[in-house]
Amino acid sequence: MITRRQSLQLAAGAVAALSCPAAMAESALITRAVPSSGERLPVVGLGSSASFRALAGGDDVAALGAVLKALVEHGGKVFDTAPSYGDSEAVAGRLAAELGLTEKLFWATKLNVAGRDGSGADPELAQAQIEDSFARVDRTTIDLVQVHNVADIPVQLGLLKELRQAGRIRHLGITNTRSQLYDELEKLMRRERLDFIGIDYAIDNRKMAERILPLAIDRGIAVLVYAPFGRTRLWDRVRGKALPDWASEFGANSWAQFFLKFVIAHPAVTVATPATSKAHHMMDNLGAARGELPDAAMQKRMIEYLADL
Ligand SMILES: NC(=O)c1ccc[n+]([C@@H]2O[C@H](COP(=O)([O-])OP(=O)(O)OC[C@H]3O[C@@H](n4cnc5c(N)ncnc54)[C@H](OP(=O)(O)O)[C@@H]3O)[C@@H](O)[C@H]2O)c1
Repeated sequence: MITRRQSLQLAAGAVAALSCPAAMAESALITRAVPSSGERLPVVGLGSSASFRALAGGDDVAALGAVLKALVEHGGKVFDTAPSYGDSEAVAGRLAAELGLTEKLFWATKLNVAGRDGSGADPELAQAQIEDSFARVDRTTIDLVQVHNVADIPVQLGLLKELRQAGRIRHLGITNTRSQLYDELEKLMRRERLDFIGIDYAIDNRKMAERILPLAIDRGIAVLVYAPFGRTRLWDRVRGKALPDWASEFGANSWAQFFLKFVIAHPAVTVATPATSKAHHMMDNLGAARGELPDAAMQKRMIEYLADL
C-alpha cells in the first residue's frame, strides 16, 4: 500500500524523468562491491589488449579517446591495462589526462618482468616497471595492480604487498587465463590475501566456474573477467546469426549483451572488461550492465542455444 503523499512523490519523479532525456534513456548500471574494500564498481568495464592495443600502436588514437569518454559518460569506470599491451597503458594515460578522466577511472594494471621461459623477476626491474605505470597513469595511487599470468609470485606479489601496505596501490591481485595454471592460482587464492583475481570466463569457456569462481566468493576475492567474448571466438560463432527473440526476456539487445549478461550473472563476477576500439561497442557493452540478468534456467538455455548454432 502506498500513501497519497508517496503516490504524488512518484508522479513528480516521473515528470522529472520525462523532462530529462538522459535519465529516461539510461538507467543506472548494476554495481558489485569489492569484498576487501567495499568499493562498488559498475559490472562492465573496458580492457585494452586485442583491438584497443592494435589502435593504440597506430598514429590515430582519437577513436580510443572516444571509447574512454563513452565508458565514463555512460556510467562505467574500470579500465584494465598492462605494461605488456604495447602502447595501451601510455596512450590511455595520455588520453585520460587530455579528457579530464584520470581521476574518474578505476585503473587496473599489471606487473610482469619475469621471463616467458620461467626465469625469475629481477626486483629492480619490477620496481622500475611499476614506477613507469605510475608515470603513465599520472596518479599517486593506482586502484589495482595484479601479477600478470601468475609469474614469479615471491618477488612480484611481494612487491605489490609492500606497495599496498604503503598505500600506493589500493588493491592487489593475480591474473591467469591459462587452464594449466588454475590449480596454481587456486593455491594462491587460499594462501594469500588477494583483493582481486583476473580470469577468463565466457559462455563457451566455463571451467573456472567449477572451482575458481566459488572459491573467490568463499575467500572474499573480487573477480575481473577477461576475454568474455573469447576475443574473436564468439564473434566467429554468431556471425550472420540473428539474436533469439527470447534474449529480450533478460534485456539483451545484441550478441555482446547476450554474452556479457551471461558472464555477469555469475555472483562471483565483480567486473567484466571486454576490449573494444569503438565507442558504439563500448556503449553496447555497457548496456549489458542495465536491467535484468539471466537466471540459472535461462543460462542453461543460452548455453544450449549457442552449442546448437
Ligand atoms: N592474462 C591476463 O591478464 C589477460 C588475458 C587476456 C585478456 N586480459 C584483459 O581482458 C581484456 C578482454 O579480453 P580480450 O580483449 O582478449 O577479448 P574480448 O574482450 O573477449 O574481445 C575483444 C574483441 O571483441 C570485440 N568487441 C568488443 N565489444 C564488441 C561489441 N559490442 N560488438 C562486437 N564486437 C565487440 C572487439 O573488437 P572491436 O574493437 O571491433 O569492438 C575485440 O575484437 C583484455 O583487453 C585485457 O585487458 C587479461
